[in-house]
Amino acid sequence: MTLGTRPLTAAAALSLTLTTGLLGGCGPRETTQPSAPSSASSPATGGAGGRTFLIGMSQANKGEPWRQAMNDQIAAAAAGHPELSVQFADAAQDNAKQVAQVENFLQQGISLLIISPNEAAPLTDVVAKAYGKGIPVILLDRKVKGDKYTMWIGADNAKIGQEAGKYAADWCKRSARTPCRVIELRGLEGSSPAKERGDGFREGIKANPAVQIIASQNADWLREKAVSVSQAMLQASPNVDVVYAHNDPMAEAAFISAGSAHRDTGKMLFVGIDGLPTPDGGIHSVQAGRLGVTHVYPTGGKEAIDYAVQILEKKQTPPRAVVLPTVQVTKANADAVLKQYGGK
Ligand code: FRU
Repeated sequence: MTLGTRPLTAAAALSLTLTTGLLGGCGPRETTQPSAPSSASSPATGGAGGRTFLIGMSQANKGEPWRQAMNDQIAAAAAGHPELSVQFADAAQDNAKQVAQVENFLQQGISLLIISPNEAAPLTDVVAKAYGKGIPVILLDRKVKGDKYTMWIGADNAKIGQEAGKYAADWCKRSARTPCRVIELRGLEGSSPAKERGDGFREGIKANPAVQIIASQNADWLREKAVSVSQAMLQASPNVDVVYAHNDPMAEAAFISAGSAHRDTGKMLFVGIDGLPTPDGGIHSVQAGRLGVTHVYPTGGKEAIDYAVQILEKKQTPPRAVVLPTVQVTKANADAVLKQYGGK
């Protein structure tokens, strides 16, 4: 699908605000390139006689709201550049499919690849192949192994995990829970944010030795899977104080499971990550009291297009890494953050 002239949807408008100037007053942090990439982009001719650039956007899975927001944001940003056309591919959480889709992009002669890899290791070779061919590669949100890519754009998942852990540690202390039992719903094992969010959380809870992670399971980022996984975890553990989920959809699923298991959800803490400003997003969930805390995790879609323009048209070497700012969202700031991110 070519999206050069696609109108801005409501979701796109909302998600657009995720990484614009509304990020708590501080912009993205940049890391410089160790060495210039061989960015031999190959502009094709087309459009109204001008040069156009075909960008392949390889999405890990479009079934999740946060990923749809990323695509919408890319489409909206690209719509401001008639010389760019973006082709989207949805790997539906299938590594082999995503590899094949990138191969297909290479055959089509894309000028630049944006990819949010489903899992790191299985996508590493095909990303390196694209990069080796001189096609600039922008990794978005999730990483691959090694260094064969042009740049990475995303938020600091270890830091988010750490802040989530600190919040949980404080909550446990405030609520006088000794021990304070945590169950963890993890993202897809081989995806970089799952490891970083898990490790960061473990750092954060060190602030309170009473906090114990009593069970940890993968629910692969998926709300549906998290329903059955959390049901089983709650059944196995009669006393759970905190649910730490690596994203909001899994946290919401655990909230439902806890209610069905007749747990007093008002006395538990549900921790999520994503903080979309949409009606069914995490900020509303904090306002409604289902989640005690979430974290705005910007998609970076707009930045990906900004840097694509810098690479393709201005022939500039981009930073090696761009770290997007995040915000912790609690009842105390949920209204303000929602407003700040353009939600209602
Ligand atoms: C969507 C998602 C988000 C999460 C991100 C991490 O696929 O699970 O909910 O924040 O991926 O890569």
